[in-house]
Amino acid sequence: MQTITDPAAMRAWARARRAEGRRIGFVPTMGYLHRGHTSLMDLARPRCDALVVSIYVNPLQFGPGEDLDRYPRDPEGDARKCAEHGADVLFMPPDLYAPGHATTVHVAGLTEGLCGAHRPGHFDGVTTVVARLFGLVKPHLAVFGEKDYQQLATVRRMVEDLAMDVEVVGAPLVRDADGLALSSRNAYLSPAERARALSLSRALRAMREAAEAGEREAAALVAAGRARLDVDRLDYLEVRDARDLRPVEVIEAPARALVAAWIGRTRLIDNMPLGPTAP
Ligand code: PAF
Repeated sequence: MQTITDPAAMRAWARARRAEGRRIGFVPTMGYLHRGHTSLMDLARPRCDALVVSIYVNPLQFGPGEDLDRYPRDPEGDARKCAEHGADVLFMPPDLYAPGHATTVHVAGLTEGLCGAHRPGHFDGVTTVVARLFGLVKPHLAVFGEKDYQQLATVRRMVEDLAMDVEVVGAPLVRDADGLALSSRNAYLSPAERARALSLSRALRAMREAAEAGEREAAALVAAGRARLDVDRLDYLEVRDARDLRPVEVIEAPARALVAAWIGRTRLIDNMPLGPTAP
């Protein structure tokens, strides 16, 4: 595995692979890699000839007072995991934006509710960095986890609207044995906080079970989920259309339950498909 830190060198590498007719797969990350990230690499690997993993903690997607300064890092461990999971290139730029960078990519609509309502500017930061990374890595396919369900939908919309020639692949969310959705931010949790964090997946499971038992009213499903939550602050617990994330009152098509909540100083998100016809 080769490590590239210079954006211009990354672009030159990508141009050369494309000239050879090789299919480039891409997994963008912010590092502190766990099994959720390596599952994205495992999904991409057989679908491409050359796999690039990027690690860049993107300041544009953090708001004031968020955890940019304390975001966990483990460059050596990350490099080992990338090599073990078949990456050809680890792209770790110290910075990604040239001085004078003046462009923001904004996806309207999809980014307004859920996390967008609680993290102003977050999704603009995500789409701007992903667009720039796509320009440098030139992937044929890119894998994003369903853990960040709104992010995945937003990136899909950007790619479609801007006619970017990239196949976006969604990868299933990965959980620990006790049900906690894997996240780099789980590292912030004390053992007592971690125990309470399990209430997010319990709430979503309760909603799924109620939907499977025939409940179709979103308000009733949310009430079933809320009763299981043990959090310090709830940003949202909602039922949305699984494809376009429109708010849903009565489930008639594949839907998704989504939650974001704070345990102490840590904000966690999770989601689950609802109903037997869920994707
Ligand atoms: O999901 C993440 O880790 C980040 O939002 C991403 C896609 C790497 C952009 O910084």
